[in-house]
Amino acid sequence: MKTRHFLTLQDLQAEELRMLIHRAMERKRLAGPYEPLKNRVLGMIFEKASTRTRVSFEAGIVQLGGAAIFLAPKDSQLERGEPLEDTARVLSRMVDVIALRTHSHDTVERFAKYSRVPVINALTDRFHPCQLLADMQTWFEHRGEIRGRTVAWIGDGNNMCQSYINAAKLLDFQLNVACPEGYEPEAGLLERSASHVTLTHDPRQAASGANLIVTDVWASMGQEEEQRQRRDAFRHFQVTPEIMQLARSDALFMHCLPAHRGEEVSAEVLEGPQSVVWDEAENRLHAQKALLEFLLLPQTGI
Ligand code: CP
Ligand code: NVA
Repeated sequence: MKTRHFLTLQDLQAEELRMLIHRAMERKRLAGPYEPLKNRVLGMIFEKASTRTRVSFEAGIVQLGGAAIFLAPKDSQLERGEPLEDTARVLSRMVDVIALRTHSHDTVERFAKYSRVPVINALTDRFHPCQLLADMQTWFEHRGEIRGRTVAWIGDGNNMCQSYINAAKLLDFQLNVACPEGYEPEAGLLERSASHVTLTHDPRQAASGANLIVTDVWASMGQEEEQRQRRDAFRHFQVTPEIMQLARSDALFMHCLPAHRGEEVSAEVLEGPQSVVWDEAENRLHAQKALLEFLLLPQTGI
């Protein structure tokens, strides 16, 4: 059987994504031990910092009965020049699944090509699909079906925005992207998703009538040197109470975190009654447990 990887949301069929989200919700509700992945090992190679992704994967695999091995850049021979392809071939003979957080998306694609076991994208410069599993679970828990709803993305056309573009198409919702000129998502991605995505440079227009408002940092990991220039370019793209007021009265606010209060979101919105960011963060655990089960035990039918 062909090894299934999870490099972008497009690695899932729409029905699989829905099943996975429902499985995560179901397992979250059921208390008590559940260890279908006994003795299974998750290898983790993280070339960027992480709080949520690392802890949710490590805690998740342990709760499912398995164990994790975490490799920071200095821990492996990768940093001393061992080819990625060799590392993939070796590690995948020892562990059952591998989560990789890195810079270039091409790196996870190359790694997956040489891996015998499923590879999970734990964030690249282009996509962050694990976060979308949690975001969609959070929406379903709070509001039910997302088909036909409107989501406003306000901020950078980055890895999170591009993952929302994929989600819009798969789950059939409308996505209004508002970003400053020069910070748009990839043109090819927008073209392929034109039926579900609109692009504007006006955050107020994107937020009008939306059911969900989402944002992310102005400078992603690896863009630290652009911070000042970005702060200037994005100064009109903060999610404020005024922006929330343009959305529907029952609209939710999400942010993958970490957040910068006073930059992409005001403290009032982040801590306000429409914000579900703590549920969203918690759901990283539940959604990724469902993902690990899906990739390692396809016969369970989730
Ligand atoms: N949202 C998210 O991926 O957080 P970390 O960078 O802390 O993993
Ligand atoms: N866009 C952010 C997401 C962090 C979880 C980054 O890539 O740094």
